[in-house]
Amino acid sequence: MSVVVEKYDLVIRNTRIRGRPYDKTFDIAIVNDRIEDIKEHINGHGEVEIDAKGRLVSPAFFNMHHHLDSVLTIGDPKYNESGTLWEGIAIWAEYKKKITEEDILRRVEEYIKWHVAYGTLFIRTHADTTEKTLTTVKALVKARELFKDLVDIQVTAFPQDGIMTEPENAEYLRKAVELGADNVGMIPHNEYTREDAVKSIEVAFKIAKEYDRDIDGHVDETDDPISRNLEVVAKYTLKYGWQGRVTAGHVTASHSWDPAYRYRIMPLIRKAGITIIANPLINIYLQGRFDFYPKRRGMAPIKLYLENGINVALGHDCVLDPWYPLGVGDMLQALFMAIHVDQMMGWSDLFKALDLITYNAAKAWRKGYEDYGVEKGKKANLVILNGLTDVDVLRILGPPLYVIRNGKLIADNTGPERQLKVFYKGKWEVVDTYFHRATQPR
Ligand code: FE2
Repeated sequence: MSVVVEKYDLVIRNTRIRGRPYDKTFDIAIVNDRIEDIKEHINGHGEVEIDAKGRLVSPAFFNMHHHLDSVLTIGDPKYNESGTLWEGIAIWAEYKKKITEEDILRRVEEYIKWHVAYGTLFIRTHADTTEKTLTTVKALVKARELFKDLVDIQVTAFPQDGIMTEPENAEYLRKAVELGADNVGMIPHNEYTREDAVKSIEVAFKIAKEYDRDIDGHVDETDDPISRNLEVVAKYTLKYGWQGRVTAGHVTASHSWDPAYRYRIMPLIRKAGITIIANPLINIYLQGRFDFYPKRRGMAPIKLYLENGINVALGHDCVLDPWYPLGVGDMLQALFMAIHVDQMMGWSDLFKALDLITYNAAKAWRKGYEDYGVEKGKKANLVILNGLTDVDVLRILGPPLYVIRNGKLIADNTGPERQLKVFYKGKWEVVDTYFHRATQPR
């Protein structure tokens, strides 16, 4: 009698799985791009075998709000010395004069590898549509295709300077969607008047409906407590039947809203099924700039939204650009900041925190949601994290040990000298995340 030994493409041994009891470890078998089996012990062999040594496995991370067009441009033409949003905008306006598709793609190619090494396989990026040439839109739509072996990218057509501020901006926004942008953006708090803000939201929804796109806005990114565009977004979400298809990025004003107003608005946001995307690193750094001490925490009140049944996910927003001088594309850094700023560190909170960069985000990303998770039959997009439980992961931080994309080992960070390695274009490549151009202040 012969015994049939199962062959798998990849087997992860001895791992804890988020969502299952942590007093047990499991083996995960993968065939092609899917999880074939999960058991306490799997017989048979994987062509690739990974011993997780009890460490935690999670579905791969999401970065739900990012500006890939500006990554790694820091210092060019100059560094932001005040650290303010406004100096950042002025520096970016200078940089944009010479921006090309090649330049964007070169920077994105370098940076995306960092992002992958740090376990984030899904990026939603904004692409500025207020430039006539639509260079960033064209480049990022290309990036989505060029780097699809490494990451899934969604491009949001983002009218950085407003939709109503110039007569042609609405047309550029529409054009960006025709060029292949996945989502329609907006920035109502940057319009000249409240009336224009309302009109801009209507224009965005009309385009979204016409081209069957989701909405992904920058909404109320200010400390101004009377910035209340989210209610208008909710109204149009209901009017257009877009529930579950709308994300509102930043919403930092909601930190400063009057409690009576917040009390009234929360049920409306829940009813509209809007996901709030906080960007903790950038929000805590760029908001509160008009305050002396005490300074507000300019971040959306994540805990409050969650308690009100509203979905919340996180973005990194910026890395090494005119607005944020740090970052390596690690969503754990954003999460670490979020749980401190909003005091989400009760023992039970810590075991839910990773949802902000995994399941909650997947829900708002929508595409492939049914395939997301560490379960039999689902797509194997996994990270083996540096810790035995969520608490270790949040304490110790740093890159995951391994990253698996569509069933293939795509990042291995277990080499000597803290080396990060990513599988790209058919071979393993050491990823250098040091910033070699950095100059000391004079
Ligand atoms: Fe942003």
